[in-house]
Amino acid sequence: MTNDLTVVEEILSIKNLKKYFVKGREFSRQKETIRAVDGISFSITRGQTFVLAGESGSGKTTIARLILRALEPDSGEIFFDGTKITNDVSSLKKIRTECQMIHQDPYASIDPRMTVLDIVKEPLDIHNIGKSNKRRDLVFEALRDVKLEPDEIVSKYPHMLSGGQRQRVAIARAIATKPKLIIADEPVSMLDVSVRVGILELMRELQNKYGISFFYITHDLSTARYVGQTIFILYLGKIVEMGPINDVLSRPRHPYTQALLDSISEPTPDNLQKEKKIRINDPIDINVYQGCRFRARCPYAIEKCKQEPSLEQIDGQRSVACFVEIN
Ligand SMILES: Nc1ncnc2c1ncn2[C@@H]1O[C@H](COP(=O)(O)OP(=O)(O)OP(=O)(O)O)[C@@H](O)[C@H]1O
Ligand SMILES: [Mg+2]
Repeated sequence: MTNDLTVVEEILSIKNLKKYFVKGREFSRQKETIRAVDGISFSITRGQTFVLAGESGSGKTTIARLILRALEPDSGEIFFDGTKITNDVSSLKKIRTECQMIHQDPYASIDPRMTVLDIVKEPLDIHNIGKSNKRRDLVFEALRDVKLEPDEIVSKYPHMLSGGQRQRVAIARAIATKPKLIIADEPVSMLDVSVRVGILELMRELQNKYGISFFYITHDLSTARYVGQTIFILYLGKIVEMGPINDVLSRPRHPYTQALLDSISEPTPDNLQKEKKIRINDPIDINVYQGCRFRARCPYAIEKCKQEPSLEQIDGQRSVACFVEIN
């Protein structure tokens, strides 16, 4: 019997992941512990796009770095393609070839002194993928996949390209190893609005063609709806709400999700009033990690919010961590 039947439905599974950082100078007494990732659990189904949304500092990039093993977690487990990768050096090669990252700034992942050919070929060389005399063909294929004309572009340097082209080159580099999962960390936020949709559509096409799973990280909910099936809303290291994207965005249940949505909606008097309510309650002098972390900013906070709400299932596929029933 083969073990084909044991293929797990999830490409990525994370269990109770934690990563704290201690901030403050060495030998200084004023040290502060940042709970960047504080007990996060989720799974990504194969071939789907999973969106992780939250504002700056909520822990999004830290989660990505933990998955790629660029950081070690304090505790918790990560399973990739059915294999436990935490505390396992032997799985490093697997994760580094089968999981790739696209960064917000293409310059962060591509060397300005290399030509497009070398940029896209580098991961193939590093991981010894394909025969060395065939790698150029693989590069051409990847460039065609991202809708760039290989003959016109392979000998160019990054500064000779537009922002959108540079991000396409970064995507070509990411898909060259035929990864199973791509982590895209704010991949369009530095691009001109006019080229954003093209890049998001490209990601969708690559998903259809190769069955790649995407982990799409964004602070901007307006692009989330474009790309994904499932969304997780992160606030200060905790998931506060999760579920199918259309449901969550059309009927948000957590006040923080509502606040994020209001920040992208039209400036109507009603929205401005809601925004004011949130602003009035800007961080006050409490230990933010006790009780609900959003309560200092929440217009609906009640006494009970001094306790920590857990992420509870509210219907078939949705969960929320909030004591108050809004809507
Ligand atoms: N290496 C580090 N050392 C100390 N603190 C860190 C480190 N990396 C991240 N942090 C802190 O952890 C928290 C989460 O940071 P992270 O970069 O994951 O947020 P993010 O959601 O990606 O934000 P952004 O939208 O700005 O990219 C922040 O408070 C940040 O200052
Ligand atoms: Mg980030």
